[in-house]
Amino acid sequence: MAQALAERGCDAVFSYAGVTAAPIAQPLPTRSGGFGGVPGLIAYLHAEKITHVIDATHPFAAGMSANAVAACAETATALCALERAPWSLEPGWTPVPDIPGALVVLPDRGARVFLAIGKQNVDAFAPKPDNFYLLRMIDPPAAPPALPECHVLTGRGPFSAEDERALLEHHAITHVVAKNGGAPSARRKLDAATALGLRVIVIARPDVPARQVCRSVPDVLRWLGHDTDLGV
Ligand SMILES: NC(=O)c1ccc[n+]([C@@H]2O[C@H](COP(=O)([O-])OP(=O)(O)OC[C@H]3O[C@@H](n4cnc5c(N)ncnc54)[C@H](OP(=O)(O)O)[C@@H]3O)[C@@H](O)[C@H]2O)c1
Repeated sequence: MAQALAERGCDAVFSYAGVTAAPIAQPLPTRSGGFGGVPGLIAYLHAEKITHVIDATHPFAAGMSANAVAACAETATALCALERAPWSLEPGWTPVPDIPGALVVLPDRGARVFLAIGKQNVDAFAPKPDNFYLLRMIDPPAAPPALPECHVLTGRGPFSAEDERALLEHHAITHVVAKNGGAPSARRKLDAATALGLRVIVIARPDVPARQVCRSVPDVLRWLGHDTDLGV
């Protein structure tokens, strides 16, 4: 999205929440960090004379999305979300409504779980300490996870299907827990797990207030009123 805006010379700013130590560089002017809730975002939209907001956050960044809906409504700023469709679930997968739901369906002991949920919410699995947990994060955790049996990997995706399969085999994983992010690359670990006959637990997206949703960059460009003829 940022590349498409930059190629068209759009007057745009890219806003990171600031939760990773070294975020990917963007071809747009970039700011980082929260605004101070909805009032702070409203003040920013006014100060910068923002006319359009594109919510390109992860589907589980529900606070950012809710703030955008509220602030844009208050300031009459046009808003659309660039959001992938959720994965369609394979017949053998276990859907759960939220993180506590994933904890409930895990065995009490003896499972080897790839907890592919990023760095947030990991400690929610502390009530089942007798499983092994494999964690993968972009940055090393600031404090040791509250999981006695765990191994932390650091790395930024996308990861190949071959590497995902090798990882699952190397750690003798029995269960994979993932958020339904919708990215094809992030689905590879679930497809690899399915091919290996492992249990796959998929956490449903949190609710966010109703807003216009675009499924692709060209759709957002059309919404902005820009042509889409440049091969995006
Ligand atoms: N949650 C996930 O599973 C997940 C997965 C992959 C990637 N991510 C990405 O990680 C980042 C943080 O996600 P999160 O779940 O921590 O978000 P979150 O809980 O919804 O919000 C985190 C903080 O971001 C600030 N914020 C709100 N709108 C912002 C904006 N436009 N620009 C910068 N900061 C803003 C807010 O602070 P103020 O109230 O002070 O403004 C809020 O406290 C997002 O970029 C998201 O796309 C999240």
